[in-house]
Amino acid sequence: MANIALMGHGVVGSGVAEVLLKNKEAFEGKLGEEVNLKYILDLRDFDVPYKNLFTKDFQTIVQDKSVSVVVEVMGGLKPAYDFVKTCLENGKSVVTSNKELVAAKGAELLRLAREHNVNFLFEASVGGGIPIIRPMHQCLAANEIREVAGILNGTTNFILTKMIREQMAFDEALKLAQSLGYAEKDPTADIEGGDACRKICILASLAYGKHVYPEQVKTEGITKLTSEDVAYAESWGGVIKLIGRAKKLENGKLHIMVSPAFISRESQLAGVDDVFNGILVRGDATGDVVFYGKGAGKLPTASAVVADIIDEIKHKDTIKTLYWEDGSKDYVEQYENYS
Ligand code: HSE
Repeated sequence: MANIALMGHGVVGSGVAEVLLKNKEAFEGKLGEEVNLKYILDLRDFDVPYKNLFTKDFQTIVQDKSVSVVVEVMGGLKPAYDFVKTCLENGKSVVTSNKELVAAKGAELLRLAREHNVNFLFEASVGGGIPIIRPMHQCLAANEIREVAGILNGTTNFILTKMIREQMAFDEALKLAQSLGYAEKDPTADIEGGDACRKICILASLAYGKHVYPEQVKTEGITKLTSEDVAYAESWGGVIKLIGRAKKLENGKLHIMVSPAFISRESQLAGVDDVFNGILVRGDATGDVVFYGKGAGKLPTASAVVADIIDEIKHKDTIKTLYWEDGSKDYVEQYENYS
């Protein structure tokens, strides 16, 4: 039997608990092992059928040797970073959806996981329910990645779509995205591009094997866009999308940026609307591979988290292969524009 602890019972955390409890029989059948949600760490009280699982004490989880996988869905760096480090140091594999944590501390946490012979998994940190992390480091492993570019933030894509298709005002569309559970607690990270920036940092680190930090990336969100800009793009046969893009240069440096961009109707990314994300990975052997699906929301994100839990239980004795080095200051050059 595998015992799981869940840290955080917000939008994603409650989705993870729901999927773990609801689909238990289905994935246990495939795994051949019982998956037991043993603890949920949260300081708040919830009136849910599984309220007996709640604890407010992190040490209960760390000291319970029967817990092999800890799921961190609290978000933010504090206290998530310290908690995740402590779990890895105590021989527990960690699954997270926390892109802020992976973008800021990924190289260090992957190294720590290796040193303690456990895993640090983060499929849900980019693209919500879209499989992208595992396909990139496994299925596309034979390729030299020429470029990664994508619509990486569901909230801003939802807002832009509502502005284009329904002439909805920016604020109204943002409120709707928040009510649907797409936006971050503080939506500044969505609309100013910080969330997309963290995600392109994770994808670039994965693609090129060297950590890229959000502070190194020139980032512009969608707050300066007007309805006129959006209409103007339409009249030119395209759409405006918030794009994160990373490309390795011949001199070994990385070009990376996040900004609104004019996307021609012919591009595969032009039809990616609403809360959907679209990620284009250009491999030297495969050519373009496009990943598409719901990039935010409770259950799509929970689906990716639970898939990591299942993968960890299934392959707990395999050697940890995912790894990237720490980055350096002079590794990154800025794109001046998107073309
Ligand atoms: N706020 C994020 C988004 C959630 O809108 O894409 C998923 O990371």
